[in-house]
Amino acid sequence: MQVKIVSKNFDIPLSHTLDVARANGRYQTLETLFSKSPDAIISEVEKSGLRGKGGGGALTGEKWRLIPSPSDKPTYLVVNADESEPGTFKDRQILEFDPHLLIEGIICSSYAIGAHHAYIYMRGEYVFWAKRVQEAIDEAYEAGILGTHVLGHDYALHVTLHRGGGAYICGEKTALLESLEGKRGHPRLKPKGKEPEWFFGCPTVVNNVETISSVPFIVREGFEAYRAYGTPESPGTMLFGISGHVEKPGVYELPYGTPMTKVIDELCGGILNGGKLKAVIPGGSSVHILRADEIENITLDYESVKAHGSSLGTGGMIVMDESVSIPHVMKNLFEFYHHESCGQCTPCREGTGWVDAILGKILDGKGTKKDLETILDVCDMLNGKTICVFAPSVAFIAQSYLKKFKEEFEALLK
Ligand SMILES: Cc1cc2nc3c(=O)[nH]c(=O)nc-3n(C[C@H](O)[C@H](O)[C@H](O)COP(=O)(O)O)c2cc1C
Ligand code: SF4
Repeated sequence: MQVKIVSKNFDIPLSHTLDVARANGRYQTLETLFSKSPDAIISEVEKSGLRGKGGGGALTGEKWRLIPSPSDKPTYLVVNADESEPGTFKDRQILEFDPHLLIEGIICSSYAIGAHHAYIYMRGEYVFWAKRVQEAIDEAYEAGILGTHVLGHDYALHVTLHRGGGAYICGEKTALLESLEGKRGHPRLKPKGKEPEWFFGCPTVVNNVETISSVPFIVREGFEAYRAYGTPESPGTMLFGISGHVEKPGVYELPYGTPMTKVIDELCGGILNGGKLKAVIPGGSSVHILRADEIENITLDYESVKAHGSSLGTGGMIVMDESVSIPHVMKNLFEFYHHESCGQCTPCREGTGWVDAILGKILDGKGTKKDLETILDVCDMLNGKTICVFAPSVAFIAQSYLKKFKEEFEALLK
């Protein structure tokens, strides 16, 4: 069931050190890379159908094409290592066990978009991982893999690691760029048409850690090798981080299209202590919850999960057994979202707090039917009238919890 493209070296002792990484294939892609033009590399990534692994599943090649070529301004690559979505812990594996794969991916991707400086924006709480990645960057500079002539080639690349201050919203790409520019991490209003991102007014690509780490395989083995896995619309593999009530939680690299029940029952050894499945949040906490009876025919790809009313998101699957109280789960999430709303938009800043407070009242046994209606009213305000998708996502999850587990909320009412 498992396929090891990105996770190939994870289990090798000292895989994070340059010598071991090199002995196990890291940086071997660079000869192929420099034998081709940047345009040819973008074409290869386009044909591979590589989709962003940070939650949205955008086509990576299409995004890279938005960078003007030639560009009259410097261009930048920014790697999103913010990984703050509850239930998501897969990028951390790459940062810990194969930081040189990430650097190799950064070299390939920067070369393709004509960037000579790349930034890694890392979640503030990832103290150990920041140290590990910085050590790998230092090793790469010392070995001439980064710097003015990447492995002796006529191509310069510098990589800077930047640590965030611990705000969830800084994972949103435009808030991340604001923060990287030294400002408060507030999402920007988006233009209507397709555009690159802008870092200090220069065209920029923002990609997730795992997306960038998938690029060397495509450059080295070709787009067909990548397309040999997964489905036509969701080609390749993804690191799925499975947590909660399963016997064997962990991070597993799987081809898209793998049946969800097979993953829970076989790979993860089934529900903990022989329990019964109640619900699954399939892609990080910001996606719709699924009841046990809804997952039977789901395969882990963007299209199937969407067709069943949720999203593949970050692939962070939270599995819950019958012991879980869904109203408590929702309260826990709203405490988080209320705390993490950046506060720019009134409906989001105030609405998340109202839902949190009303849920507290319901859990205290003081709630009424009217309170459930008020939550849905607040959700209407959250949806579609804000600067970023944080608020609509939060509204959708509230609606899905109330709809699918109505009887649990009603049982708590006065
Ligand atoms: C509230 C919010 C939080 C996000 N957090 C992350 C994150 O921690 N890591 C990430 O890679 N993408 C995150 N994203 C998605 C990014 O905005 C962006 O789409 C992604 O980094 C693009 O990379 P990809 O195309 O390789 O997925 C978040 C989006 C939103 C709306
Ligand atoms: S929707 Fe919420 S998180 Fe997004 S910009 Fe508005 S206040 Fe900030």
